[in-house]
Amino acid sequence: MGDDLEKVLVTEEQIKDRLRELAAEIDADYAGRELLLVGVLKGAVMVMADLARELHHPCAMDWMAVSSYGAGTTSSGVVRILKDLDIDIKDRNVLVVEDVIDSGLTLSWLVGNLKSRGPASVEICTMVRKPLAFEVDLGVRYVGFDLPNEFIIGYGLDYAEKYRNLPFIGTLAPHVYQG
Ligand code: PRP
Ligand code: MN
Ligand code: MG
Repeated sequence: MGDDLEKVLVTEEQIKDRLRELAAEIDADYAGRELLLVGVLKGAVMVMADLARELHHPCAMDWMAVSSYGAGTTSSGVVRILKDLDIDIKDRNVLVVEDVIDSGLTLSWLVGNLKSRGPASVEICTMVRKPLAFEVDLGVRYVGFDLPNEFIIGYGLDYAEKYRNLPFIGTLAPHVYQG
């Protein structure tokens, strides 16, 4: 790791505090209703695990994996399912959990796909939202942190599959991706 990290943007403690606040909101909002958390592999693993443990509300958990597009790649807006849900979400309250919304393409497709399955509701919770996400009409219900458009890593977020296990969110030093 060493000098691959440029600076820390959100500390481990800030993440924990914010998740506790979001969990309290979610507990209140879903009182009296069943809740199904849907994590988007692989980035959402950390936030799913920590958010679920901050919730007092009982919840089920399931996972999806979808193909997505790297920065700079032109997108047709079509996303492919690599691993589908195990659970039938008809009439269920679905809360999609993400590590980051960047262009918003992944989630706008995913939410449309999930809504076509007849759930009672579909909402979104993301640890990080980047500025581009505002250009897509997603209606994100729960946001951990709004961060600037920098190359961020840690807490599930990877660069070439590395750095996901950092307990904080930071920026990647340019020399790493500039070679
Ligand atoms: C990242 C991130 C989100 C998505 C956000 O996943 O975890 O799922 O991209 O980007 P968008 O808003 O521009 O669509 P990625 O495809 O890198 O897979 P990963 O979760 O396995 O890292
Ligand atoms: Mn992801
Ligand atoms: Mg990734």
